[in-house]
Amino acid sequence: MAKTLILLWVFLLFLLNQVKSQIDELFFDAGDDGAASIIRLNGAAQIQKNGILRLTNHTSRLLGQAFYSSGIQFQDSTDDKVSSFSTVFAFAIVPEYPKLGGHGFAFTISPSRELHGTLPSQYLGILNSSNVGNFSNHIFAVEFDTVQDYEFGDINDNHVGINFNSLVSNKSVPTAYFTTNSIKQDLDLKSGKVIQAWIDYDSSKKQLDVKLSPTSTKPNSSILTYEVDLSPIFQKYMYVGFSASTGLLASSHYIMGWSFKVNGEAKSLDLDSLPSLPGPKRNHHTPLILGVTLSAVLIMFLLFGIAIYLIRKIKNADVTEAWELDIGPHRFSYKDLNQATSGFKDEQLLGFGGFGRVYKGILPNSNTQVAVKRISHESKQGLREFASEIASIGRLRHRNLVQLLGWCRRLGDLLLVYDFMPNGSLDKYLFDEPKTILTWKQRFKIINGVASGLLYLHEEWEQKVIHRDIKAGNVLLDTELNGRLGDFGLAKLYEHGSNPSTTRVVGTLGYLAPELTRIGKPTTSSDVFAFGALLLEVVCGRRPIEHKALPEELILVDWVWKKMEIWCHFKRC
Ligand SMILES: *[C@@H]1O[C@H](CO)[C@@H](O)[C@H](O)[C@H]1NC(C)=O
Ligand SMILES: *[C@@H]1O[C@H](CO)[C@@H](O)[C@H](O)[C@H]1NC(C)=O
Ligand SMILES: *[C@@H]1O[C@H](CO)[C@@H](O)[C@H](O)[C@H]1NC(C)=O
Ligand SMILES: *[C@@H]1O[C@H](CO)[C@@H](O)[C@H](O)[C@H]1NC(C)=O
Ligand SMILES: *[C@@H]1O[C@H](CO)[C@@H](O)[C@H](O)[C@H]1NC(C)=O
Repeated sequence: MAKTLILLWVFLLFLLNQVKSQIDELFFDAGDDGAASIIRLNGAAQIQKNGILRLTNHTSRLLGQAFYSSGIQFQDSTDDKVSSFSTVFAFAIVPEYPKLGGHGFAFTISPSRELHGTLPSQYLGILNSSNVGNFSNHIFAVEFDTVQDYEFGDINDNHVGINFNSLVSNKSVPTAYFTTNSIKQDLDLKSGKVIQAWIDYDSSKKQLDVKLSPTSTKPNSSILTYEVDLSPIFQKYMYVGFSASTGLLASSHYIMGWSFKVNGEAKSLDLDSLPSLPGPKRNHHTPLILGVTLSAVLIMFLLFGIAIYLIRKIKNADVTEAWELDIGPHRFSYKDLNQATSGFKDEQLLGFGGFGRVYKGILPNSNTQVAVKRISHESKQGLREFASEIASIGRLRHRNLVQLLGWCRRLGDLLLVYDFMPNGSLDKYLFDEPKTILTWKQRFKIINGVASGLLYLHEEWEQKVIHRDIKAGNVLLDTELNGRLGDFGLAKLYEHGSNPSTTRVVGTLGYLAPELTRIGKPTTSSDVFAFGALLLEVVCGRRPIEHKALPEELILVDWVWKKMEIWCHFKRC
């Protein structure tokens, strides 16, 4: 009996402690109502034992939301002017890999405290691809974004932006703050350090102000000011909170403290009094009483271990050269990739892509599935040219491209790490008695996706990227059977590496534009020709060149062309 009572007491204490720490840390001050601080959590969001709100962890493609559970009245009944409001919060973003964040979070004001059907990654959990940009969403967000998405015109991978019903910011600035002497200092969102943010809306001036600081004092100057009348965007009652997401790369997004006030200034937080993020665990002292023989055995083991370690290290050594440090995307260690692919075993082989073998792998730390392409390259010059291409290709980001996650070099081998596409390549669904027959709707969706990926490469990115090898084998299908272009840019390297003075025609027979074989200069038009051949392929389910076919049916494009001429002749078109 006594035992049960004690247990009950311990449990109650535990509960009390939990509630107390939540109120302390998620300090909420919503005007005069003095409402209880209840936070509605969604997705991966959770309040940790230490009282810190964690929106996401290091798992890929997560979203986490936390909204204050009561609606807040923003508009008076007499007029529809949005009241002034002010909020302060302290946050920290701890990326899984240093310097590579994913994707960010947004202070969000929304008509609902549960956003359903929204997407992670670049959508930050606040919108999805079908409702993005629609004014009936009534969503206002201040994004703290750590990935540069060209799709939404992001300025860099470390910015703060003001968004209305969209992920395209109406105004955004690189993250920075003003010191007490009004000197502008850079600030890194992904540093893992605690940053305090102030967002104020002045209803008489119709002006939004965003201030940041790594300290507890509110700076005098804003880093972001935007004049806007919020009344068309807001509804009478809205919910305030946070939404965060991770993509292929992930960060933990933490909110350490928060205050909010309508018609008044929210109280700044004292960063020193906030709970700190759990650091690396400290080792316990081991008792130092060890027999002489035991220490001797240990030392022997140690020496043996060091020897094995050194041998491994030399075996797996990847020497870094100066130019490699300039390259943007993540550089993986050879050891990790070797481990991920179980030592590049044949069982892990996915196929032979352009210029190399592709292996399936699971990254040791994050359990992320990846595809690792291994390219052997003899000439150092070619490798360097290639490296500069990786730098730009790694920055391409589009939902219809297979994302390059990172790379690694070891002696003459270059390893490229891509997002793993579980449904393999499109050609497996078209030729040689496929297991599943694609419906017309699926085919259309795939083609549509490839077209939009290609448009991005040709026109929407900062540089013009010519793919040069568009074909069914280079279109990969993700879990939702979206078509994604893979293997882009590799062809170009091949040309530089082999012989810079002549331009080699690269590509695949049956997809080559007629002028390409004569002039040898690839253009966006030759890509579009290949895309046309791909279209016919998807519609007909036949390879562009079928060696077993009759001579007049050998080349698919020519055959279709001839058929069309006959048809046009009869129709007189
Ligand atoms: C992260 O959160 C998700 C959802 O709550 C959970 O399924 C996953 O196991 C967590 N991952 C880690 C590494 O804690
Ligand atoms: C997009 O989000 C809206 C609102 O959250 C939701 O109603 C809709 O079902 C979502 N659409 C898709 C395709 O998930
Ligand atoms: C915007 O969303 C509303 C409600 O979900 C829908 O009726 C409307 O068609 C959408 N508008 C556009 C342009 O997508
Ligand atoms: C945001 O920018 C879009 C496009 O430039 C514009 O149509 C819209 O009115 C702007 N919204 C606000 C609230 O300023
Ligand atoms: C703001 O300006 C006042 C007066 O110019 C100055 O005394 C104060 O230190 C400044 N505070 C900050 C945080 O910059």
